Amino acid sequence: MKKAILAMAALILMIQLIPIRPSNPPERSPLAITGDAGEILTRSCFDCHSNKTRWPWYSRIAPVSWWVIDHVEEGREHLNFSDWGLLSEEDRAEALEEIVEEVEEREMPLPSYLPMHPEAELSASDIAALRAWATEQSGHATHEPEEHHE
Ligand code: HEC
Repeated sequence: MKKAILAMAALILMIQLIPIRPSNPPERSPLAITGDAGEILTRSCFDCHSNKTRWPWYSRIAPVSWWVIDHVEEGREHLNFSDWGLLSEEDRAEALEEIVEEVEEREMPLPSYLPMHPEAELSASDIAALRAWATEQSGHATHEPEEHHE
């Protein structure tokens, strides 16, 4: 029994050396957003969908860190508000649609994130604010090209 505990402790110490670390790469073209929607996205989404992740202490301790880092990297791959300005107009419109869909279906924020981040849970009015923001943004997207030609 004692041997097993020592072996386990040694293993946990050793895996700390594996160089998988949380990182916040520079933002290339962050979404400019203020007001309610900005506050909601920052609070509930930016940890996994931006390069401004607030890494919790357990994101530095393997093996939990691997799981947390994996979620963040996968989240950033799908949608990264730090690179928002690099999206084509079409991709941005699609992202806006998906954002509304995911929050209305309560698939985002990722349910496994909520027990450790209860403040990220969205209220009905948060969801309504995100929908209003997304609708307004889609409006902008379709008007922009016309304005350029004027
Ligand atoms: C704990 C991490 C985490 C948080 C917090 C989080 N997401 Fe995600 N999100 C992911 C991961 C991982 C994926 C990709 C896998 C999947 O779709 O489940 C994803 C996928 C998505 C997608 C799908 C993109 C695509 O290309 O299909 C959208 C849209 C999205 N998230 C929006 C949001 C919004 C909006 C919030 C905040 C209300 C949010 N997410 C919060 C981790 C997160």
